[in-house]
Amino acid sequence: MSMVDSFEKIPVKIFSTLGEGSRFIGKEIATLIKEKSAKGEKAVLGLATGSSPKSLYAELVRLHREEGLSFKNVVTFNLDEYYPLDNDALQSYNRFMKEQLFNKVDIDPKNCHIPNGEWKKEDIKKHCLEYEKMIEDAGGIDLQILGIGNNGHIGFNEPGSSLFSKTRLIPLDNSTRIANSGDFQNISKVPRLAITMGISTILKAKRIVLMAWGQLKAPVIQKAVEGNVTEQIPASLLQQHNDCMFVTDEMAASDLTRFKSPWLTGETEWTPAIIRKAVVNMALKLGKPILSLTNSDYNDNGLSDLLVEKGDAYEINLQVFYVLRDSISGWPGGKPADTNPARPERSTPFPKRSLIFSPHPDDDIISMGGTFMRLHDQGHDVHVAYQTSGNIAVTDEFVTRFLDFAVGFEVLAGIDSQKSSQILQEATQFLKKKKASEIDTAEIRQIKGLIRRCEAKATCRYVGLEDNNIHFMNLPFYETGTIEKKPMGEADVLQTMELLRELKPQQIFAAGDLADPHGTHKVCLDIIFESMRRLKAAGDSWLKDCWLWLYKGAWQEWDISEIEMAIPMSPDQVMKKRFGIFIHQSQKDMVPFQGSDSREFWQRAEDRNANTAGLYAQLGLTKYAGIEAFVRWHY
Ligand code: F6R
Repeated sequence: MSMVDSFEKIPVKIFSTLGEGSRFIGKEIATLIKEKSAKGEKAVLGLATGSSPKSLYAELVRLHREEGLSFKNVVTFNLDEYYPLDNDALQSYNRFMKEQLFNKVDIDPKNCHIPNGEWKKEDIKKHCLEYEKMIEDAGGIDLQILGIGNNGHIGFNEPGSSLFSKTRLIPLDNSTRIANSGDFQNISKVPRLAITMGISTILKAKRIVLMAWGQLKAPVIQKAVEGNVTEQIPASLLQQHNDCMFVTDEMAASDLTRFKSPWLTGETEWTPAIIRKAVVNMALKLGKPILSLTNSDYNDNGLSDLLVEKGDAYEINLQVFYVLRDSISGWPGGKPADTNPARPERSTPFPKRSLIFSPHPDDDIISMGGTFMRLHDQGHDVHVAYQTSGNIAVTDEFVTRFLDFAVGFEVLAGIDSQKSSQILQEATQFLKKKKASEIDTAEIRQIKGLIRRCEAKATCRYVGLEDNNIHFMNLPFYETGTIEKKPMGEADVLQTMELLRELKPQQIFAAGDLADPHGTHKVCLDIIFESMRRLKAAGDSWLKDCWLWLYKGAWQEWDISEIEMAIPMSPDQVMKKRFGIFIHQSQKDMVPFQGSDSREFWQRAEDRNANTAGLYAQLGLTKYAGIEAFVRWHY
């Protein structure tokens, strides 16, 4: 698209997946290295860490191994490092770079530069000056690779960093410490400081490529690319560089005006979905119910084109209002003997076999607890499949409580089972001596998994499910014992296909989380998609009668204009759901993976359901206490 009629002030290259985007950047780097090498020069790369560049580094390693790309003439300068932190700590960027790239290619370690978390505090200023000098002496950075923080930081240049800043020690923003706490045991273990190249150091690079993947990055990408240049969004300062490009996947680009409000960027094809999106957004922006929107509202908000094409506001309003109205249903499994074709679910067969896939043991109740209970209460044969053990999210303190109980019980009961007491002793000893970030033993992982399994079972019983309807999958991709999970594997898919074939559900509910491309939810969803794709290819006829509904995880909700099935909840149902979430005691209060939101899971779920209900009401529909939202996936 031409930059002249675009809202975008930095070119954005969008790929459908992060794999494709990473391959593109890999190719750019390889070309630079080869061109420089042909001239007998060194290629100077500025490198980033974090989750975003992992697939890029995997691609560079592949290029080295399979296509002979040599890094002998490459010099690198990394952006940043936590301070203070040992270089071999699991979270150290020095360690990260070795593990992800340096140890896997033929680069000379002497050519790899990275700020050091072990520098003495009094020497840091001197080291930072030297770092700048080394970059200069190397001839400056030819290509700077960047990620972007949700608050707009580049490197660890937090909001407020000056345009003229150089390599220095900087306090980490609280939002960054929370966002990165997943890599540490909890927020209190995240260092408060970091050493980072400055904004001016970055802007001096000859060329800059910033990458961003996943929906969580969408708001900040929009601000950096389309917003004003401001030190409050450090990445927006890149608008001032003359050779900078953003490379994103579709999710990270989804808030750009050309996708969010395409009617503002030129000719639009007015499909029902686009009309709905445009009208709903306008109504929310103006704080008006849909049926109160006037012709002049349309004209004043960039929608005159829609009026030209579709006629009067009155007709368009009604069309959108009916779609919203028809998405609301108290019958998530379909209403028996109902003939209204506009309802979101089919009335037959009734009852249905409904399968809820829950990535972690509490996603079912958190994200669709009201719907879960309704399905059961309305007589459907509801099954839940817990895809992963969720063991990584149980704190050591929590396990210790259970171990204390088990040991106490053994003493009390005088059971002389050598094996079990040995396991208990060993587990207790291990936890006592466990070092920060040490990986749990297989036994501890099993105990943690068992704790979550018991909680999930108790929740299912609370809803009224029989034990036979509860399936613990323990998918292998998750069982690494570390935060970093394996990618989807063959065993994960085969196990899922087997369960689907056994149950032959008429309805499936799955977590449709596309926010974090590296997250467990996304892998769980990919496994379901891949399993269904293969079953379809194999001609499994039951699939023709099976609908797939997607809910969102604990963090987000569907955009109001996308929702296809909205299940309302009464105040009593909201309370019942809350108590269901409470059963997951190990996830209450301080959990290891809190994310950037300090509310507990039940609060987030309630706020989110109330918010959806509020938006429906604001648009002129009935006000419910809460609404759970779903989008149908056509596979
Ligand atoms: C890391 C760095 C940071 C990250 C940013 C995004 O070297 O410079 O700016 O790029 O925090 O992190 P991820 O990629 O983990 O979302």
